[in-house]
Amino acid sequence: WSNLKGRHFLTLRDYSESEIAQLLWTAKDLKARHAQDRLLSYRPLEGHSLGMIFEKRSTRTRVSTETGFFLLGGQPVFLSPQDVHLGTNESLPDTAKVLSGFCDAVLARVYAHDSLMTLSEHSSVPIVNGLSDQYHPLQVLADFLTAYENFGHLNGLVWAFVGDGDNNMTHALLDDGLPQAGHIRIASPAGYDPNPAVVQDARELSRQYGTQLVLTRDPAEAVRGADVIVTDTFVSMGREAEKERRLKDFKGFQVKLQPGGAHAKPRWVFMHCLPRKQEEVTDDIFYDSKRSLVWPESHNRKWTVMSVLLNVLNDQYRPACPMPSF
Ligand code: CP
Ligand code: NVA
Repeated sequence: WSNLKGRHFLTLRDYSESEIAQLLWTAKDLKARHAQDRLLSYRPLEGHSLGMIFEKRSTRTRVSTETGFFLLGGQPVFLSPQDVHLGTNESLPDTAKVLSGFCDAVLARVYAHDSLMTLSEHSSVPIVNGLSDQYHPLQVLADFLTAYENFGHLNGLVWAFVGDGDNNMTHALLDDGLPQAGHIRIASPAGYDPNPAVVQDARELSRQYGTQLVLTRDPAEAVRGADVIVTDTFVSMGREAEKERRLKDFKGFQVKLQPGGAHAKPRWVFMHCLPRKQEEVTDDIFYDSKRSLVWPESHNRKWTVMSVLLNVLNDQYRPACPMPSF
């Protein structure tokens, strides 16, 4: 068991394989405890408060964090740019210093990943990435938990991402730090490749662990033999002005049963961080309850964000359930 108290959570790459397994174990444990008694007799974060900076909209991240932190006994405080000075009337370093005195941790959803770096440099309390233009590590944790619940393990799964390679979900998946979680294939159109530095790090890890990392322009190649097919919006928040061009560029990258699903493994499943638009996946997959894990995936955001906050704020907690083998 590692003591993660006081650590920032900016990307999964900052966490070792066993620390990520610990975060997933905690999430599974909290989910099971909640199923037993809604965590009514367990308030490990009583007296703690969480600042929640949101520069962009959010349904899942906001609601899972607010309700989850409250369930653990703590008090979340939601701060939109309309509510706090945040870079407009007060610098980010000053905001970080002030919030550090009021809050025990700060979760921030920002446009530029650099803003998170600045917050973390000047904060004396943990900063948790609630999504940046570069990474969305909380979502990948939830995706791992969901895949584990579906397959009973993560070992050697083939993940195929079809769509925008240059976005926070692809980078977070490449940056996952859990190489045994398997092989990654990314199919994206020209001009939408993942960040070369993130790819280089991911290649290094795959070499070390003997897993496969494939970047291709061909969605059919990516999904061939896949266990999990993942996509995301073609127009991420902050890219709205490029919508028209992007929808043209992503023609042929919609996830659909033919040929996409036809090439995957018989028990393939579909995941999407949401919110979803029709252009990236057809309704017959998205709403197919046998294939699509999107609803449990979204609900798992709650247990995974609770796990991260509990681990970075409390060094006394130990799961009641036995350690799963991921
Ligand atoms: N998946 C996700 O982060 O959703 P929100 O934008 O609703 O938080
Ligand atoms: N890539 C998407 C993820 C939303 C949760 C975005 O940044 O808008």
